Amino acid sequence: MKRPVILDVDTGVDDSIALLLAMKLPQLNVKAVTTVSGNVHVDEVTESTKTVLGLVDHTAVRVGKGSSVSLRHTRFHAPEVHGSDGLGNVRKKYEQFKARIKTERAVPLILDVVRNNDTSVTIIATGPLTNIARAVQKDIRIMRRVKEIISMGGSFEYRGNTGPLAEFNYYVDPDAVDVVARAGIPLTIVPLNITETVPLHREEIVGWSRLSRTHGAEFIKDVTKFYMDYHKKTESFNGGYMHDPLAVAIAAVPGLVKRIKRLPLLIETEGTFTSGTTLTRDAKGSEKRAPVVSVITKIDRQRFWKIFRKTLFPLPD
Ligand code: BDR
Ligand code: CA
Repeated sequence: MKRPVILDVDTGVDDSIALLLAMKLPQLNVKAVTTVSGNVHVDEVTESTKTVLGLVDHTAVRVGKGSSVSLRHTRFHAPEVHGSDGLGNVRKKYEQFKARIKTERAVPLILDVVRNNDTSVTIIATGPLTNIARAVQKDIRIMRRVKEIISMGGSFEYRGNTGPLAEFNYYVDPDAVDVVARAGIPLTIVPLNITETVPLHREEIVGWSRLSRTHGAEFIKDVTKFYMDYHKKTESFNGGYMHDPLAVAIAAVPGLVKRIKRLPLLIETEGTFTSGTTLTRDAKGSEKRAPVVSVITKIDRQRFWKIFRKTLFPLPD
């Protein structure tokens, strides 16, 4: 049976690829896609998400627009990484395909799907956890029916990508991470130190899309250009990390996970300079009172790339 999922996204170049992947992987059944402010403002995220959905068969998918600000009413975006439309500034080219789906509100939509689906739903969150935290605050009893939350975020014993220590999604809304981790719902974290082990290089994407020649492959080549330019400028790496597609692939093929640890999660919500940092212990023993979550510490990279390529860059018959 296909795994029923809700995808919560802050589209985002890598979110857009994650979305295509989730819609195409035969193991997943995307029930709803909800949007949240993160890489860009939620209005842009929603437009871009519907544009991406228009590239695939989306007839059974519901869309919900979510929070424009974090639980503390702050905003932080990354247009320099993802473009002002979140799609590397290529949305215009694909706007003609935009899915005509009614936009619902994210939190009621999440609760409705979780409540009414026959089998327990998994949430894959590839943006800040604001919507999920709000759903928990609204109805924790319903949210405890969720099978698993797979969240791309955090960074363990590694650097950050938003300031020296914090990962972007958890930097944007650390309070939401705290609420979700304490909710009593199985939480699996796919952290930055793991997602950065799956860099996609420009020559690969150019070569693969030339061979595949599908609409989706062309979109991926276009959407990654700006993202890869950014990494080239800032890290001298001619490519881009596939953070969010990895979280989706893990939901579809749990065998991708080679090692997972149960760890106490300390999320810095008050730090003047370190907000959003994830730790598993401190000098005061705070971990003794912390919620315990599952943190992925090793994956099968080769298998991930096989799945990624086969699903998104199919070869013509
Ligand atoms: C995460 O932050 C965003 O920029 C990406 O879409 C990904 O979800 C990586 O830190
Ligand atoms: Ca994201």
